[in-house]
Order: sequence, then structure tokens, then C-alpha cells
Amino acid sequence: MRDRVVIEVWDGWVRLFHWGLVTAVLVSFYTTKTSGAPFLFPVEVHAQAGYLVIGLLVFRWLWGALGSVYARFNTFLYPPTETVAYSRSLLKRQPSAYASHNPLGGWMVLLMLLSLSFQAVSGLFLSDDIFFQAPLYGFFGDEVGSQLRTLHQLNSDLLIILIGLHLAGLIVHSLMGESLIAAMLVGAKRFCQQPVDARKESLSSTLLRLRAIGALLVAAGVVLWLWF
Ligand code: HEM
Ligand code: HEM
Repeated sequence: MRDRVVIEVWDGWVRLFHWGLVTAVLVSFYTTKTSGAPFLFPVEVHAQAGYLVIGLLVFRWLWGALGSVYARFNTFLYPPTETVAYSRSLLKRQPSAYASHNPLGGWMVLLMLLSLSFQAVSGLFLSDDIFFQAPLYGFFGDEVGSQLRTLHQLNSDLLIILIGLHLAGLIVHSLMGESLIAAMLVGAKRFCQQPVDARKESLSSTLLRLRAIGALLVAAGVVLWLWF
């Protein structure tokens, strides 16, 4: 069947955020889970990748509140009833098409953003007990610091599970003929009919550009403050 509707769902900011996040998160894991082997990195590199994750997340939280229509949280977070109905339709292999994240995907995205935020922010209070002390090390005292270290370890395992589920979800959708990955690369999604969440952008492109620059400046300020 010919695609009749083409929608620009992911603006350049969301795509840049996503692939930047994938890279920075992979570096964060690589520099700890493998101790950097076969290339050795000091823990500073782990922390710096984490600062980039924080900057990207600051941008995404702001863009989710103020950004373009399909990137906004109020577009892709649905009440439980709709999420359950969507899950049922998925099991019957008759899911409706969504331009932005589908109801299940939306909650998954929120969970990933929360877990990633906790991971990166909790790192700011840690030390490796040798040479490295993160910028906020000692802020809450020893007891809370050691609990945060345990949570940094536990949440990193949760993150691996969430990323695994994320990739499994993408495989399911691609088996059903939906090429979500191509859309995250080029921005546009193709549909045979209007997706259920199709809507017009209410903000002008100038306003969106100004908001993006504002969010970018805040994110860059946070990264620079942490880095130097
Ligand atoms: C998304 C970002 C991050 C990820 C995925 C991540 C992941 C991890 C992982 C998997 C470990 C090893 C845990 C274990 O022992 O099993 C670790 C340890 C550590 N992380 Fe992170 N981390 C992130 C951000 C940060 C940041 C921003 C900092 C500091 C500024 C940081 C500081 C540390 C330190 C100091 C350790 C060593 C703790 C110890 O010696 O027990 N991390 N991190
Ligand atoms: C470290 C690994 C990864 C993390 C932490 C991650 C995280 C995320 C997040 C937070 C989103 C939501 C995007 C937004 O609305 O801003 C997302 C969406 C997406 N990711 Fe990833 N991702 C990872 C790996 C990958 C990989 C390897 C691929 C492709 C091969 C991929 C493809 C996608 C796609 C296609 C979407 C959009 C899903 C949809 O249309 O609902 N991700 N990812």
C-alpha cells in the first residue's frame, strides 16, 4: 500500500538528543563495567560522559515541556486506561499508528529519562575512594553518600534492563513493519492513514527556535559548571 501521510515527527533537537545520549551513556557504561579495558580511561572520563548525559537530559526535560508538538510530554503521556487498551491491541497485533511515542512507549520513555537522571545526578555525590571526588561529594555526609553509591550501582542495572526492553520494543515494531529507527534518524514517519495523535504545531517556528536556544544555553551552562 502506498504511504499517503508523511509527518515530520522528530525535530533535529530530539534526534541530536537521542544519538548524543546513546553515545554518552555507552561511554559511561564502558568506562566502568569494563574498567575501560582494553583502553584504559580514568574515572574522570566516566564523570565527563555523565556530565554530558546531564546536559542532554536538562535539554530534554525543558524541550518536553516547551518544545515542538510531538516532543512534548503532554502529547505522548496517556492515562492508564488508554495505555492498557493500546497494550491489548498490540497483543492482538492490531495497534493503531501513532506519530509520537505510542502510549506504552511514552511511559517507557519517561521511565528511562527518570532512571537516567537519577543515575547521572547520583554520580555527582560519589568518589572512587582513590583520587576522584565528584563536584558534590560530601554534600549529604558519609551515610547518605554511601547509600547513593549503592543506588548508583543498583540503578545502573535497572538502566541496562530498561535499555534492553527499549531495544526489544523496537524489534517488535520493526517486525510489524513500523520503521521507528529510520524516523529517529531522518525525522519523518510514513503512514497509510492519519495517525491517532496527529496534530498541528501551535507554536511558530521562530518561537520554537528561541525556546530551543534558551534550553540549549541552560543545558550548556550546567555542563560547563560541572566540567570546570
Ligand atoms: C548516565 C550516567 C552514568 C552511568 C550510566 C553510570 C554508571 C556507573 C556504573 C555502572 C558504575 C559501576 C557500579 C558498580 O560498581 O557496579 C559507576 C560507578 C561510579 N560512577 Fe557512575 N554513572 C553515570 C554517571 C556518573 C557521574 C555523572 C559521576 C560523577 C560525576 C559518576 C561517578 C561514579 C563513580 C565515582 C563511580 C565509582 C563508585 C565506586 O567506586 O564504587 N557516575 N557508574
Ligand atoms: C544507550 C542506549 C539507549 C538509550 C539510553 C535510549 C534512550 C531513548 C530515549 C530516552 C528515547 C525517547 C526519545 C525522546 O522522546 O526524546 C528513545 C527513543 C528511541 N530510540 Fe533509543 N535509546 C538507546 C538506544 C537506542 C538504539 C541503539 C536505537 C536504534 C537502533 C534506538 C532507537 C530509538 C528510537 C527509534 C526511538 C523512538 C521510539 C518511538 O518512535 O517511540 N535507541 N531512546
